[in-house]
Amino acid sequence: MTVNKCQELNDIEECVNSNRLYHSDKYHEISEVEQTRIQKDLLDWYHVEKRLTMPWRKDNDLSWDRQALGQRAYEVWVSEIMLQQTQVATVISFYNRWMEAFPTIHDLASADIERVNTLWAGLGYYSRAKRLWEGAQKVVNQLDGLLPNNAKDLQAEIPGVGRYTAGAVASIVFGQSTPVVDGNVIRVLARIRAIHADPKKAKTIDLFWDIAASLVPQSKPGDFNQALMELGARVCTPQNPDCSHCPIQKDCRAFKQLELVKSLSKNGFFAEKKKRKQIEIEHECSTCHALDTNLVEDDYTVTRYPLKVEKKAPRDEECAVSIVERISPNKEPLYLISKRPETGLLAGLWEFPTLELTSLESKYNERVKGSSEYLKMRYGLEFDTTPHRQDLGNVVHLFSHIRKVYHIEWIQYEHGKDLDDEKDVKWVTLEELKISPIPTGLKKALKLLEKYKTTTSTPLTKKTPVKKAPVKRTIKTEDTPTKRAA
Ligand code: ADE
Repeated sequence: MTVNKCQELNDIEECVNSNRLYHSDKYHEISEVEQTRIQKDLLDWYHVEKRLTMPWRKDNDLSWDRQALGQRAYEVWVSEIMLQQTQVATVISFYNRWMEAFPTIHDLASADIERVNTLWAGLGYYSRAKRLWEGAQKVVNQLDGLLPNNAKDLQAEIPGVGRYTAGAVASIVFGQSTPVVDGNVIRVLARIRAIHADPKKAKTIDLFWDIAASLVPQSKPGDFNQALMELGARVCTPQNPDCSHCPIQKDCRAFKQLELVKSLSKNGFFAEKKKRKQIEIEHECSTCHALDTNLVEDDYTVTRYPLKVEKKAPRDEECAVSIVERISPNKEPLYLISKRPETGLLAGLWEFPTLELTSLESKYNERVKGSSEYLKMRYGLEFDTTPHRQDLGNVVHLFSHIRKVYHIEWIQYEHGKDLDDEKDVKWVTLEELKISPIPTGLKKALKLLEKYKTTTSTPLTKKTPVKKAPVKRTIKTEDTPTKRAA
């Protein structure tokens, strides 16, 4: 559906009646009247509806106290980084634990990266934690411990702070009238301005930023930005938007189009519900894809916006994971883990020995051979007694661009002598393993092993009753992150 040159939505009807529609760049602009109304309606809604359960949301006015503002900026920065890719409900407990461990930016800057990773474990996208840590060090060492008070400097000076985070911190903490655009905001803006363009393209993203900038008010910009995000998360949702409770429904072009189509339909415009109606379009918009003119009534939903583009399928990767469990008489079993490289996927996390497989869907027997060679070569591990080996099946973990299949093998063997830890290789108890920063995929692997052990008795566990010994070694951490909600 497109609109008449005059941009008054009522004229769609006129256009449709003449079978001629017009869609230009102007269609996405926000008039002054609309701007004032949207700001007021959204802020009124937010003041009644905002979620107070978010521990980083604080209302007190600190504008007179630069130190207190610096502390708020640190809190909001951490929350906004955690909220990228992760839902509010999941973030809250991680945020609280983080703030207990690193109450100030100074505490974070002087922390050990192992501890930082441990507190992040379960949130995914671990590079975010490292960037926060590096950012904190820069602020403490070079900026007197105070985050910059405006979006431009935040983005320019703090590692890992992009346009979104800079806008969020600057508007929420420092009251700067500067926009934010995230996935929720894109959905709301695409609908209120009927933007039918690939939301991943640079040109479309620029348009979203321009519209957001034209909306954000001078007064309460932080509340306004949060209102926009919250509206996207709770009302203007991807699948079933609750348009009847939307505070800015009257300024939503997608909703108007739908209403109009419904009324046209009532008046017999779509002679039959499923019959296509051909409409002629004058398309002069430099951003949007031309709309399909051959639609049936049911196609006119607000969820047409934002335009859905086919996602590139994630590539498949497979690896053989060995959960090596060492049994010694009267001691707790120990598990072999090692640290991943400091760059790349899951940088700096700990993992069970993991061999990347080059040929996909390899057979268990082939993997046994490969894993044995890998354990010997990488860890110098040779078994003096025949180990008990068990194929536990596989777990799958989806990264944004990779579908990773972990084939899990449990290798249990007896070894009485102590083995020394090396720099990036350790033998840890189950208790220590559970509080180590290991990737979510491998936490699933451990669950698989625990499930297997509770349902099956195995030769070595029968032969070697294991007594619980006091924990000796420590992994640098004090907390156990809960599993992230689905
Ligand atoms: N999503 C990300 N940051 C948010 C915030 N500050 N308020 C509401 N939703 C958000």
